[in-house]
Amino acid sequence: MVLDDRKEIVRLDPGGMLGLVQRLGTMTTDGWEAASDLALPPVSPSAVIVGGMGGSGIGGDLLRALLAPTAALPVVVVKDYRLPAFVGRDTLVFACSYSGDTEETLAAYQEAHASGAAIVAVTSGGALADHAAASGHPVVRVPPGLPPRAALPYMLMPLLRITGRLGIGGVTDSEVREAAALLDGLVVRWGPEAPSGVNPAKSLAAALEGALPVVYASSSLFEPVAQRWKTQLNENSKVFACWNAFPELNHNETVGWEGVRGGHPRLHAVLLRDRDEGARNALRVEITRELLARRADGVTEVWSQGNGLLARLLSLVLLGDLVSVYLAVLTRVDPTPVEIIAEIKRRLGGG
Ligand code: F6R
Repeated sequence: MVLDDRKEIVRLDPGGMLGLVQRLGTMTTDGWEAASDLALPPVSPSAVIVGGMGGSGIGGDLLRALLAPTAALPVVVVKDYRLPAFVGRDTLVFACSYSGDTEETLAAYQEAHASGAAIVAVTSGGALADHAAASGHPVVRVPPGLPPRAALPYMLMPLLRITGRLGIGGVTDSEVREAAALLDGLVVRWGPEAPSGVNPAKSLAAALEGALPVVYASSSLFEPVAQRWKTQLNENSKVFACWNAFPELNHNETVGWEGVRGGHPRLHAVLLRDRDEGARNALRVEITRELLARRADGVTEVWSQGNGLLARLLSLVLLGDLVSVYLAVLTRVDPTPVEIIAEIKRRLGGG
């Protein structure tokens, strides 16, 4: 089995994506420290906006999930050029672009600047770092040279540190320590050294080979994780994938499974479970799993690990990231380049 052959993995993953995924725990700690003493704008915001695309925007989705259970204000994630009309002086806007050259995020940053919002930029450099520095907006500098999607903890953890420092809510030091230690432990159990027979990440990648992955979160809290699975499967494995979340999918998408017959691609459902999904969602998942089992090529259920919400979310992010790289290796696809994204950016003439 190629996934148990370290030399073959290195040959098939020349950009070292697997090694970057294995560093998720370390990056979580480093990202948390990156904004520990940044000078912050004196703001007591009524709303938080995160502007960011793709691998940089998903940090905003995770921030929204992490603050939802406790924060007294809304977190809105904007993945476009324009900000909502309510943005003003009492809005905190995070402008997040790993490269610092993504045109949608730059446009959102300019709008936030014009509206007088309190802005913090999170970036490795580019035009965003230049504009923010020139305008006196604080900049969290993340380490350069990575594929943006591999830098997720560097993009997420500073946001959490800053919302915590501003009294908006977030996570504690001990929750961050728990998450980082858990991720390091899971990398041993799910990483390349753990053989196929006992490695659920490798088995799931093998089950997804040739199938269309359909990733369902068991509650809306885990939506960003399902979305991350989908986008990592897109970008690392270069396959189509779908995501959705309970309970909403029971009100529409589930009906789509009625039409699954011969001629469809093989569909493999992945159910992301969490202990706080709620009793009614748990029942929905059980019922839906039965209905899917009759139609899907396979159904795999995976549970989040750990205690704190951060650890639980990131445990399933890690699993999805590993599965996406293993699937790339199995299908002899280089996980790192995302040629089509680069081409579209080139043809738009921007970053
Ligand atoms: C590439 C990736 C993309 C980028 C997106 C925005 O690894 O995941 O989704 O994140 O094109 O670019 P940045 O993050 O540089 O603003």
